[in-house]
Amino acid sequence: MDQRPQNITVLGSTGSIGVNTLDVLARHPQRFSVFALSGHSRIDLLFAQCLAHRPRFVVATDAQAGAALESRLAAQGSTTRVLQGHAALDEVAAHEEVDMVMAAIVGAAGLSSCIAAARAGKRLLLANKEALVVGGSLFMEAVDGGGATLLPIDSEHSAIFQSLPADRVSWPSVVEKIILTASGGPFRTRDPATLRDVTPEQACAHPNWSMGRKISVDSATMMNKALEVIEAKFLFGLEPARIEVIIHPQSVVHSMVQFVDRAVVAQLGVPDMRGPIAYGLSWPARIESGTAALDFATMSALSFETFDAGAHRARFPGLQLAWDALAALRGTTAVLNAANEIAVAAFLEEQIRFDQIHAVNQATLEALHFGAPASLPELLDLDLRARAHAQQLAKGLAR
Ligand SMILES: NC(=O)c1ccc[n+]([C@@H]2O[C@H](COP(=O)([O-])OP(=O)(O)OC[C@H]3O[C@@H](n4cnc5c(N)ncnc54)[C@H](OP(=O)(O)O)[C@@H]3O)[C@@H](O)[C@H]2O)c1
Repeated sequence: MDQRPQNITVLGSTGSIGVNTLDVLARHPQRFSVFALSGHSRIDLLFAQCLAHRPRFVVATDAQAGAALESRLAAQGSTTRVLQGHAALDEVAAHEEVDMVMAAIVGAAGLSSCIAAARAGKRLLLANKEALVVGGSLFMEAVDGGGATLLPIDSEHSAIFQSLPADRVSWPSVVEKIILTASGGPFRTRDPATLRDVTPEQACAHPNWSMGRKISVDSATMMNKALEVIEAKFLFGLEPARIEVIIHPQSVVHSMVQFVDRAVVAQLGVPDMRGPIAYGLSWPARIESGTAALDFATMSALSFETFDAGAHRARFPGLQLAWDALAALRGTTAVLNAANEIAVAAFLEEQIRFDQIHAVNQATLEALHFGAPASLPELLDLDLRARAHAQQLAKGLAR
């Protein structure tokens, strides 16, 4: 092992994944050194993180919050340099002294810094699934072109990565399918006809995982799983027909790979994101993560439900949009992601109903006509157009 501590930039350090990442890093001070942090609105937490981890840089993407942070840090005699605005995220992601970047910003706002880290050849730990859903093949070209190492942090994709053979070239010939597990979220057994009455608080109350609000709503609609199907397609290079989703309410089996000889390899653990985070940080080695051990003596039965069972298709209509978007023109996954970000925000602000999230997503996919984006600027332009369209739809729907 390289004796020098690895320098890491944690983008989105004030979020759920960011906080868990700092917890794992603090357990291994000889191995890792925090080089840069970033936050958007939770400035008190970002301030406390700067004092605890003493990074070289901190990025406050909101300029006003950045100015306040700068004076507070100066008053404490901190040597951390405050940078402001979104362009600074790219700077600390691609900085020549950085070895690894944890991409834990939520939504397409994290795309540019992911591409910057990829082009600069970093080890890129990807929690920010929306960046890959939007960037698609352009994102993967940046990874290949820059010689970066892309490692999944989503627990399902980490599980698949841990179950696959090391020889990536063999995957298309030895893997029959990958099976993503889904907990089913808070509404797995709810009557679909009552989904119109769901409140933001109910949608954010996930039974197994404690997460940020956007991903919690995505878990409740299963759009999170749709985004993960798209993420899996780009990460593992398998055609979408070889990606399956199965409901597993206990979230103990984090996902599985079925091989051509019908052997199934799975990865298990308690639902705690510090597990996949530690694996991404240490791969191909393993380090202590702080996660509790599975207790087989007390674990109740593990259960599985196919997606076709019961009323799941009526309950979670958004899941199918993943395969539809992957089969359509390049850029369609970016349109789907943009519509969903707008729809979820409108739901959280109580402008539209829970069941209308899918209506906005589907209508945006159907209405928007575009040519396949060939570059990042064209992709970002498409993202903006899709957002504007979804915004208008959401306004028209209003509760
Ligand atoms: N949480 C999980 O267990 C989990 C599991 C798998 C994958 N993921 C993925 O990981 C990503 C982060 O999820 P999370 O649950 O950690 O979300 P979160 O708790 O909402 O945190 C999001 C982070 O992004 C920052 N941010 C928000 N809007 C921003 C903007 N416009 N520009 C720059 N930064 C911005 C936030 O800053 P402030 O808080 O300071 O505003 C925060 O640091 C998501 O893509 C999610 O799908 C999460």
